Amino acid sequence: MKVLALCGSLRAESVNLALLQTLTEINPNVKVFDGLRDLPLFNPDNEAQENAAVTAFRLALREADAVAIACPEYAHGIVGAFKNALDWVVGSAEFDQKPTLLLSALSRSAHAPAQLAEVLKTMGAVVVGPYSAGLPSRVAEAKAALTTPEAQGKLRGWLQHLAESHTGCAPCYCIPRRGVVFATRSTRVKSPTC
Ligand SMILES: Cc1cc2nc3c(=O)[nH]c(=O)nc-3n(C[C@H](O)[C@H](O)[C@H](O)COP(=O)(O)O)c2cc1C
Repeated sequence: MKVLALCGSLRAESVNLALLQTLTEINPNVKVFDGLRDLPLFNPDNEAQENAAVTAFRLALREADAVAIACPEYAHGIVGAFKNALDWVVGSAEFDQKPTLLLSALSRSAHAPAQLAEVLKTMGAVVVGPYSAGLPSRVAEAKAALTTPEAQGKLRGWLQHLAESHTGCAPCYCIPRRGVVFATRSTRVKSPTC
């Protein structure tokens, strides 16, 4: 299962990025997407125009079986730059039926995780979480905390939940199998044949 990791923070010393980097060390099939900072401001008038950063983002999402997001909270809401990135893929629908793990590095984020879950569900994602890693806010301390067996066990467990929500192929949410018609994507029932 190829997992695309998206960091909601653009900071070089981001604790959320450190969290995602640890996921890549635990599982080499997790890759961090590095192009979010290059996305222009979303404008529906420009949605169909060719833009290299937007194309790269959409392609990376299409090629991934699942997504892992780690995002901080700004002013009790989703980080604006990250919501802007998501707006670029509402119409192109890359999140539709995509298993998506939601993480936040800090436990004090009380509002943004639920908001992000709502946005992604609206975009059709199969949301796993949100989970909080409860890390310290300084990146050096967070990186140290991420090396502990407890933290790594938690991350492995979350990746396992993501893998369990991945059915292997998008159509199994909606096509008939062995005479049983499975639910359409609005109700999201997994096919036992996958
Ligand atoms: C503009 C701004 C607003 C913030 N608002 C909140 C907030 O409402 N709630 C919260 O828990 N943290 C808030 N924070 C703290 C960030 O969530 C925290 O710095 C977090 O570590 C950033 O993640 P990062 O290290 O991955 O960049 C805010 C930070 C900034 C820069």
